[in-house]
Amino acid sequence: MRIAGIDVSEVVEEFGTPTYLLDMDRVRENFLRLDKALNCPHTIAYAYKANHEPELVRMLSSLGSGATVPSGYGVMLARWAGVPPEKVVLVGPSPSRGDLAEAADYGVTVSLESESEARALRDVGGTSVMVRVNPGLGAGAHPSLVTAGPGTKFGLPPERALSLLRSLKGEMNTRGFHTHVGSQIMSVEPFISALEVLRSLVEQFGGVEVLDLGGGLGIPYGGSGEFPLGEYAEIVCGASKELGVHIFVESGRYIVGDAGYLIARVNYVKEVGGRKWILLDAGMNDLLRPALYGAKHRILVDSEGPEEKVLIAGPVCESADFFGEYDLPRVREGDLVVIADVGAYGFSMASRYNLRPLPAVVALEGGGYRLLRERENFGRAIFG
Ligand SMILES: Cc1ncc(COP(=O)(O)O)c(C=O)c1O
Repeated sequence: MRIAGIDVSEVVEEFGTPTYLLDMDRVRENFLRLDKALNCPHTIAYAYKANHEPELVRMLSSLGSGATVPSGYGVMLARWAGVPPEKVVLVGPSPSRGDLAEAADYGVTVSLESESEARALRDVGGTSVMVRVNPGLGAGAHPSLVTAGPGTKFGLPPERALSLLRSLKGEMNTRGFHTHVGSQIMSVEPFISALEVLRSLVEQFGGVEVLDLGGGLGIPYGGSGEFPLGEYAEIVCGASKELGVHIFVESGRYIVGDAGYLIARVNYVKEVGGRKWILLDAGMNDLLRPALYGAKHRILVDSEGPEEKVLIAGPVCESADFFGEYDLPRVREGDLVVIADVGAYGFSMASRYNLRPLPAVVALEGGGYRLLRERENFGRAIFG
């Protein structure tokens, strides 16, 4: 099987399985497509939580990307990658003093989610802020991907967000308002609704420099239909023009999602109760999305012939360690199985659960490949 012109079995021979592949050319293409579509003053502040591979974020920085980071380590990584501080946003519902101090030290903008956080930021000398608005409407492909509904922990209701930003005016650089309504959104409606709330806040505040619309732009995951990028850009840039604001877009998944592949090997095939299980050497510790969100990824195999129903699962001792039911041509023990569209929230959510080492990561670029991250040496991790 070939991915981005590379023979996958060659990569596996060298680095083993499970291994993540990251198609850097595809990432570049995705970033530039989004950048070109946004025909107004904007910053794409790539969401590091989607995939924080250092070479990846440095490449994006070289293309002009900013950074949305969830922690002080994220600030350090953006700084290392050469992202200018005015293009970095630290945002999260509960940043530590250490996180805020790191943001203050590099002079990045913090999107405040509470009045107490504003006091904590003042204590560590931070001066550049937005306020995260929870517009009371949520969107996303799964309840856990909704980050702005009435019952969520994120941000502040519009009126409180307005008073907080007003209270900081004169003391800090009050750059503007921020929202992130959810993830894996495939239509423009949630963005239109969020913009309506933000527009009113900007007018009441008397104008701002920045409107940060968060991320959330979805990818097809093998289903039909692309994210309506043209329509999105028109709406966003319409607001930019009308309100005279610089737009921040914190896209993660749209930029890296379809550039990632997880290569696994079939350890065992067994039939139980008339159902066929394909048991891989990659599990929920390597790729959590199916267990966490019920996400279903495209599966690619080399075999050909008539399809049969199979259940695909991993080696972890949890029933949730299950990738789903698929129709596939006959797969045999020892075959390679590729789980596609795992560039976002794949490796970045990987863990060592069940005493399993973190997988290797290999970059594909310009028809060649190179190791970005060695498979973890678990003996060394445990015994030193
Ligand atoms: C504040 C914030 N911005 C941006 C993102 C990136 O979202 P996506 O990968 O859906 O674009 C997230 C993801 O959870 C987020 O919490």
